[in-house]
Amino acid sequence: MKKIAVMTSGGDCPGMNAAIRSVVRTGIANDIEVYGIRQGYKGLIEGNIDVLTSREVSNTIQRGGTFLQSARCMEFKTEAGQKQGIEELEKRGIEGLIVIGGDGSLTGAKILHEKYGIKIIGMPGSIDNDIFGTNTSIGVDTALNNIAHAVDMINETASSHDRTFLIEVMGRNCGYLALMSAIACGAEAVMVPEIEYNLEKIIDKIKVRYEEGKSRSIVIVAEGAGSAIDFGKAFQLIGGFDTRITVLGHLQRGGSPTVFDRILATRMGAAAVNGLVEGRTGVMTALNGRDIGYVDLDYVLSNKRPLDTKLLEIAEDLSL
Ligand code: ADP
Ligand code: F6P
Repeated sequence: MKKIAVMTSGGDCPGMNAAIRSVVRTGIANDIEVYGIRQGYKGLIEGNIDVLTSREVSNTIQRGGTFLQSARCMEFKTEAGQKQGIEELEKRGIEGLIVIGGDGSLTGAKILHEKYGIKIIGMPGSIDNDIFGTNTSIGVDTALNNIAHAVDMINETASSHDRTFLIEVMGRNCGYLALMSAIACGAEAVMVPEIEYNLEKIIDKIKVRYEEGKSRSIVIVAEGAGSAIDFGKAFQLIGGFDTRITVLGHLQRGGSPTVFDRILATRMGAAAVNGLVEGRTGVMTALNGRDIGYVDLDYVLSNKRPLDTKLLEIAEDLSL
């Protein structure tokens, strides 16, 4: 294999730059020319593809976002778009493709592999941690640290005023960020899309906590469970609490990646290139225990990552 390409696609996440850097330098170390595709599948279709040098990835490991940029591209869902993308790869003699992104991006990668025989390795990049088959995805740890930092700050002002705060965190279909940040920040309650909740029961619990002498209440709401703004109105109305709402939004997705994410992205980037060299295709790099391995994209995409109910129990037990 002499020429490969790398792209970032879907929602960006901290650690994508570290992943690209690792792919580029591992490629160069193996005498492979590495092309960067800008703006995901959009750039693939438009031929926005250039060789990346080692110097171009200098000083990027610590930077959030993705310097190749990311995009959501509806045209790639069509056969015409896919064929155009493949033409752009063939024109340049690119033999293998590394796609860093979430479920949607990995679905595009699976199609390129299954339908068109392109040699593909996926890398899981999404703050949501909703990708099956890997303990964790690139960007999750940084997002969690961002959330914890924000919740700790809110906690201080909440305690000063005996206030209830509903804090909405990201997670379209997945309560991982909400659950882990609830545990890490000692929240009184957490609402996730995977579990049915009873609003009145949560409000009652918070009432009891106040009666027992707590000076504030923090409720973490995963965006997929509903709107913190709507829940907040109910807390104010039914519970009578002095309620405030914070939607953390995209600040969760920014910032310098944590050391964990830099190392994870670097190890996965190296594994992706080595995997292509070894002749692997149709797989995703995955963290299994402490090891980086490979799992079939088919297996990844035909399963849904379940919420860890033991952790949910811990969150419940510790919110006394
Ligand atoms: P993420 O990768 O973060 O889950 P999206 O779901 O928005 O983000 O997917 C990113 C891009 O991947 C889409 O804009 C599209 O270009 C491509 N993609 C998603 N689903 C498919 C699909 N079923 N077929 C082909 N391409 C897809
Ligand atoms: O999938 C990552 C994610 O950040 C979700 O948590 C969130 O729902 C979504 O992307 C936001 O997407 P956009 O970047 O289009 O606002």
